[in-house]
Amino acid sequence: MRGPRECLYYPDEIIDEVRQGNDIVDVVGQYVHLKRQGANYFGLCPFHNEKSPSFSVSPDKQIFYCFGCGKGGNVITFVMEYENCTFPEAVKELADRAGIRLPEAEYSEEARKKEERRAQLYAVNREAATYYYRMLRSPAGGVGLKYFEDRKLTAETMNRFGLGFANGSSSDLVRHLKGKGFADDLILEAGVAAFDEKRGMHDKFWNRVIFPIQDVQNRVIGFGGRVMGDGKPKYLNSPETPIFDKGHNLYALHLAKRSRTEQFILCEGYMDVISMHQAGFSQAVASLGTSFTTGQALVLKRYAKEVLLAYDSDGAGVAAALRNSEILAQAGMRCRMVDLRPYKDPDEFMKGLGHEEFQKRIDNAENAFFYKLRQAESRFSMSDPASRTDFCREAARELCRFDDDIERENYIKAVAEKYFIDAEALRKMVGSYALAGSTQAPVPVVRPAKTTGPAEENGEAKVKRSPGSEAAYRAQKYLLTWMLESPGLYRQVTGFLQPADFTEGVVRRCAEKFFAQSLQGKTDVASIISLFEEEAEQNEAASCFNSVPELPERAEDRERALRDFIRAVKEDSVQRSAEDADDPDSFGRMVRAKKQLEVLDKTKFTL
Ligand code: UTP
Ligand code: MN
Repeated sequence: MRGPRECLYYPDEIIDEVRQGNDIVDVVGQYVHLKRQGANYFGLCPFHNEKSPSFSVSPDKQIFYCFGCGKGGNVITFVMEYENCTFPEAVKELADRAGIRLPEAEYSEEARKKEERRAQLYAVNREAATYYYRMLRSPAGGVGLKYFEDRKLTAETMNRFGLGFANGSSSDLVRHLKGKGFADDLILEAGVAAFDEKRGMHDKFWNRVIFPIQDVQNRVIGFGGRVMGDGKPKYLNSPETPIFDKGHNLYALHLAKRSRTEQFILCEGYMDVISMHQAGFSQAVASLGTSFTTGQALVLKRYAKEVLLAYDSDGAGVAAALRNSEILAQAGMRCRMVDLRPYKDPDEFMKGLGHEEFQKRIDNAENAFFYKLRQAESRFSMSDPASRTDFCREAARELCRFDDDIERENYIKAVAEKYFIDAEALRKMVGSYALAGSTQAPVPVVRPAKTTGPAEENGEAKVKRSPGSEAAYRAQKYLLTWMLESPGLYRQVTGFLQPADFTEGVVRRCAEKFFAQSLQGKTDVASIISLFEEEAEQNEAASCFNSVPELPERAEDRERALRDFIRAVKEDSVQRSAEDADDPDSFGRMVRAKKQLEVLDKTKFTL
């Protein structure tokens, strides 16, 4: 573990000032549609795809936590996760936002190295892009150039997109990059080369035309390479790297953001985007060889109000368009469907009918909601009363998702009119579904398996901690959360537990700080989270204060639950010290713990 933040660039006071100058609800609210529910706000998590909100933001505690994926932290963590940036970058951004002047950053050794590494990864990608770019325009690139010309791309378009070519040799780029002084491990990490026993280090792309992928700041972060014919796979893409986050970047966004329109056009493919731009629709973007994510929807939301989906007109395209329209709607974006028929995709449409006709299709693009209903309609027989009723139910269920009263009412009226349904009856049906749905509102219940959050699943760095029982570890988090929620509890618990009883690592540090704050009668968990600078550690720290077990109703049962948690933590702690040969006091500890546990059984807690 990269421990507490003793090596940070900014002094604690500055970080506190920056945190306090940026209300978490305001900052998160810029990106996530939040709705108040009791003391907290809830919204759809920007870090994983979900249909019902499990992402919570607490204005009192100034922290966020997702009960679905386990991401959590304070306002700085949020910016780090959302912008995919480092701790000092996030502090800098938030300081700017609040108009706070930062002292010259004193970079820690480790942070500086990480920054340098990222800078080098950008440099490798830039050098590779230049290499491919030149290759396309050299004699060796003739086939590539011909390929693009056959697809009706102009030289200007090729330049604007920085298109390139990788020749048939399998290690030219590697040799070129090495010649420029880049180290092997860096070239591999950048994803432009791979290694195996047989071939050693070799280029990732060969005999393909190359589409460089750039981030909003115009930096090259990865590549797509297409075969010039029918080979498989059609496209190879760079893997995700520290600078290439496929869930938060979009192809051609750096160009589209300058188009100054309120509408973006979302396509499926690189070639679609390029054709659209060439035809004058420079607001076109595409996802990156992976399915469209909530993160990407939220990125789009920063630049546009509405998204037009120009997906392939085949079955798969329609299905993907429907799925993505949901993701966009949930992110709070308006969304319409562009009908490309009889053409297969935007690229073919442009070649067939061109700019003006496409503009008409944009103007006539169907609202995603009605599009969806129309798709649903085909599953019902509208002349059969029973089937028609089922359709009305489905429509009512769909209508529930508008949480703005006026908007919902407008849609109810429009649906009623379009499908000849009695508006009043439909309104009632919507109301009853909405009611049924609201009882399933997110209940903050911890899912035990997720104690370390999604980091583990992604194969990212897992937060390290010393061994101990999983149940005890969970109990430690429950207790911290419970003490935070019921301020009177701390004094009762300290009779039995001290921070040393908590598992070494993030949770122990949280306990130390939380106990110290509680002693002074003022807790501030958002400040505790900034003790850590790694995202995974911040997530873990946030989970320590968002672990609500399902507690029984009756006071005495709750008391028993509390005793069980304390006992679990104590016994685990004793067990650990017994196993620790270096602890000279382990025997004394055991005896004291045993006594405490006896007292515990007789203690009355006020909850
Ligand atoms: P398409 O097959 O529609 O590609 O896949 P396209 O961009 O329109 O290419 P052309 O017109 O056939 O040349 C859509 C997108 O899906 C990803 C790419 O991002 C592609 O642009 N994809 C597709 C892959 O990543 N790998 C593949 O093998 C195929
Ligand atoms: Mn295509």
